[in-house]
Amino acid sequence: MKRKIGSVCLVCVLALVLTFTFSLTAQAKELKMALGDAAGGTQWALGKKFTELLEKNTNGKLTAHLFPNGQLGSEQETVQNCRLGTLDLSVVAINNVTPFSKTVGLFTLPYMILSLQDGFILTQGPIGQQLVKNTIRDAGVRIIAWAYSGFRVLTNSKKPVRTVADLKGLVIRVPKNALMIGTYKSWGINPTPMAWDETFTALQQKVVDGQDNPYITNYVMKFYEVQKYITNIRYLFSLEPLLISEGLFQRQSPEIQQAILNAGKEASIYSMNYIVEKEGAIKKALVEKGMEILDPADNEKEFIEKATKQVWPKFYKDVGGKDKIEAALKAVGREFPF
Ligand code: MLT
Repeated sequence: MKRKIGSVCLVCVLALVLTFTFSLTAQAKELKMALGDAAGGTQWALGKKFTELLEKNTNGKLTAHLFPNGQLGSEQETVQNCRLGTLDLSVVAINNVTPFSKTVGLFTLPYMILSLQDGFILTQGPIGQQLVKNTIRDAGVRIIAWAYSGFRVLTNSKKPVRTVADLKGLVIRVPKNALMIGTYKSWGINPTPMAWDETFTALQQKVVDGQDNPYITNYVMKFYEVQKYITNIRYLFSLEPLLISEGLFQRQSPEIQQAILNAGKEASIYSMNYIVEKEGAIKKALVEKGMEILDPADNEKEFIEKATKQVWPKFYKDVGGKDKIEAALKAVGREFPF
């Protein structure tokens, strides 16, 4: 009798172990995704959509958990961590990838991208595909999707800015990006390079007077609490790639790799529609919060001339030659401006 009870118990334990093991293997593997911005922004919208599609395309084998607001470090740190393989995924502004893969600077050249359509054509076409390859080679990360976040408008707490001369006396924070630093220098001021996750506090404590980022980013980051004026400069259209650690990508089966890429492609299109849908309401909301929106004088002519003529030639080599710029302009139906 004792023996019988013993073997029944053994069977029960075995069944429990098997059930536990099976449920573990059946569980989705959860990847970590860093976001520099707060929830509700374009990074978050892209990340959410990608995660939903990733689960669907992999039949629940892979999923991702989003960590917004720079919880996993500054954007540039998260690029490094993806390269090292200590982080799986990150959505960052393209300007925070450029320091690791210089040719990507093509997309941070002032006034290179003049519309959402330009941004879409360049990122999704052969030029974007080449830059994806270069980023894998140089930075050990693969761009698998793009968030389209709108133009980076200038905000500041001190005074209305309409002309290049109005910038005088303002301390403007910029990302640690040589092209953006160069652009403000072409406008006659020395900007302050600073990590993204330190920016709100620096604006709040008046260490800096202003910064630039898209409307949606300014809104979700609550910059209206510490900034008063917006100037509609359009020197950079903010592209924000979703990066995956290349080591992690290479360890996946061909089917899973394809599922990841398909999820990225569809999420990029979703992102484009997201900004079109949201930006108008967000501008209104910023005005309701007390911000004043101004257009640059003279159709931004002076800003454009100074930035393109002074900055572009300095970066021909970094972006892969003047002919790369010409090819990008041709792809969006424009000619070299000077
Ligand atoms: C930056 O200003 O460093 C980034 O563009 C912020 C962002 O990713 O939204």
